[in-house]
Amino acid sequence: MGLLKGSSILLGITGSVAAYKSIELIKRLREEEACVKVIMTEASKNFITPLSVELASGDSVYSDMFRSPLSHVSLPANADLFVIAPATANIIGKYANGIADDLLSTALMAFNGKVLIAPAMNWRMYENPAFQKNLHYLESIGVKTIGPEKGSLACGEEGIGRMADADKIIDSIKASLTAQDLAGESVLVTAGPTREYIDPIRYISNRSSGKMGYAIARVAKRRGADVTLISGPVSIKPPDGVDIINVDTSDEMYKAVMNNINMSSIFIMSAAVADFRAAGMKAEKIEKKEGFSLNLTKTTDILEETGRLEKRPFIVGFSAETGYRVDRAKGKLVAKNIDMIVFNDVAKEGSGFDTDTNEVTIISRDKSGKIQELPLQVMSKEDVASAILDRVAEAKKGC
Ligand SMILES: Cc1cc2nc3c(=O)[nH]c(=O)nc-3n(C[C@H](O)[C@H](O)[C@H](O)COP(=O)(O)O)c2cc1C
Repeated sequence: MGLLKGSSILLGITGSVAAYKSIELIKRLREEEACVKVIMTEASKNFITPLSVELASGDSVYSDMFRSPLSHVSLPANADLFVIAPATANIIGKYANGIADDLLSTALMAFNGKVLIAPAMNWRMYENPAFQKNLHYLESIGVKTIGPEKGSLACGEEGIGRMADADKIIDSIKASLTAQDLAGESVLVTAGPTREYIDPIRYISNRSSGKMGYAIARVAKRRGADVTLISGPVSIKPPDGVDIINVDTSDEMYKAVMNNINMSSIFIMSAAVADFRAAGMKAEKIEKKEGFSLNLTKTTDILEETGRLEKRPFIVGFSAETGYRVDRAKGKLVAKNIDMIVFNDVAKEGSGFDTDTNEVTIISRDKSGKIQELPLQVMSKEDVASAILDRVAEAKKGC
């Protein structure tokens, strides 16, 4: 939230069966407090009515160049980003070839900012060499595309051509409006809990939802980084464009980290790895009885192991505590030889596990090595992710 607040999005809707999905997109953009102006092509009105678009956008729809003179110039002049969703083969062909024969195609010609298109069409149209040539040409001049995806198409066939969903388009819109200050960085992020098995059915775990780590992966990707996300078992969707490695136990997470850390320039350990595992996992289900004792042993401290590596990336750890134990977090920063640690009082309301918000203190070293604290107000996990990545980018600049 917040990133799109006040931004002006000019949305073009074209004549695809996916046109109805643009209503959801408009609503989502308005929820994010973006200002949305819409141009509809004549063909698109066969699929959705201008009235439903006006109700969603809270503004008049533009369509006829000669009814609203100079709108082909004034609308693009005031837009931060031009989005075409859905984008037909026709508009992509016209745009690639400089054709301006209606309001949308003319406004595109008159726009010199960033353009994002979400193609949607039958798979044969998509694979047509003439269409592919047009698409590649647009990509070569810096036009961003999102989707299309494979799946069942409106014509009843299976194949590539489905328009990307609103979530993904919103993510791409945010990326298009965000400075690419992490381009060239390879960010390795861990997220979620681990499971330590007692027998094949039962395990020890914790309440981590993975939301914080997923937010970091999403924001790092948006800021231009290559992102690999090592995730424990969670029930949230991975961000688009991120390489995901799914793991279950702390041992699997340790191995996945060690296999990938050499390729990373930034490592952010936000997973809540179990500190203990059962001393010996039983091969068969333990039978129900009055009670039994469970011997626990320590799991590998992944953060500590990475801090010991001779050649290591910039390392960020998390310190989840119950109570205001910033002192413990500072101790971990030093003892584990890492570069930054994010203290998190998970017992506090609006903070920690399974919430959408978090309240953290970012602890790092200044240029002279002195430890400094940056306490942040409670904010969305995406905003916390941005604040952490801001600090990382700043610290790396000084390296
Ligand atoms: C039922 C139906 C569905 C269509 N769906 C698509 C589509 O998903 N993608 C596409 O590129 N064209 C589709 N078309 C063709 C376009 O509507 C047609 O090329 C039109 O000229 C596009 O005009 P526009 O780009 O100005 O909106 C469809 C046509 C019909 C009749």
